[in-house]
Amino acid sequence: MLSRVGLISRIARQHGVLGCVSAARKKHTLPDLPYDFNALEPYISHEIMQLHYQKHHQTYVNNLNAVEEQIAEATANEDVTRLVALQAAFKFNGGGHINHSIFWQNLSPEGGEPTGDLLAAIIRDFDSLENLKSTMSAAAVGVQGSGWAWLGYCKNTDSLQVATCANQDPLQGTTGLVPLFGIDVWEHAYYLQYKNVRPDYVKAIWNVANWKDVAERFAEAHLHAQ
Ligand SMILES: [Fe+2]
Repeated sequence: MLSRVGLISRIARQHGVLGCVSAARKKHTLPDLPYDFNALEPYISHEIMQLHYQKHHQTYVNNLNAVEEQIAEATANEDVTRLVALQAAFKFNGGGHINHSIFWQNLSPEGGEPTGDLLAAIIRDFDSLENLKSTMSAAAVGVQGSGWAWLGYCKNTDSLQVATCANQDPLQGTTGLVPLFGIDVWEHAYYLQYKNVRPDYVKAIWNVANWKDVAERFAEAHLHAQ
């Protein structure tokens, strides 16, 4: 029979909590933005970038730190009911922090074009770069409500795939795909500039895709899959 602590540890491990419990004393912080707020204009406005980064991402960070404190307290108290109740807030705010930390790196005013192994994989799995863009754009536009569209890498099949996630569900934590490039289709990402016309925002974002960053993520994911 499992001891109470053993039972809590097993439940925490099954729900992905254990890592954050052990790291609860270390606060998450907003990562540096690798460019100025106006760097992605005219495709993404200064106002959107500033609010998105300083307000929205910061809120996910603050709430993640708060929920990790609560998880640590609940773990110390062996309060399994409380731990289970905290899972949704942990997933939402942890996912928000993970997703946005990738998103800022995925964008750049000087992102170049895919080349080399990444371009070869795109052509292998999508026939062409244009077909990847149209497939992922359609997925992004089709997300109901708030969520993300992703280009991900599947280690099991050694292939690129397009996927969508609802809310702030993190791609790898919920699908197993390694995130390479994400499009945030929460209204906070585009409404101030594009109003309700999400397709125009999705079309525009390809102009500031950081293919250098995508290529680095692909190379690392591919390396660890071998
Ligand atoms: Fe966002």
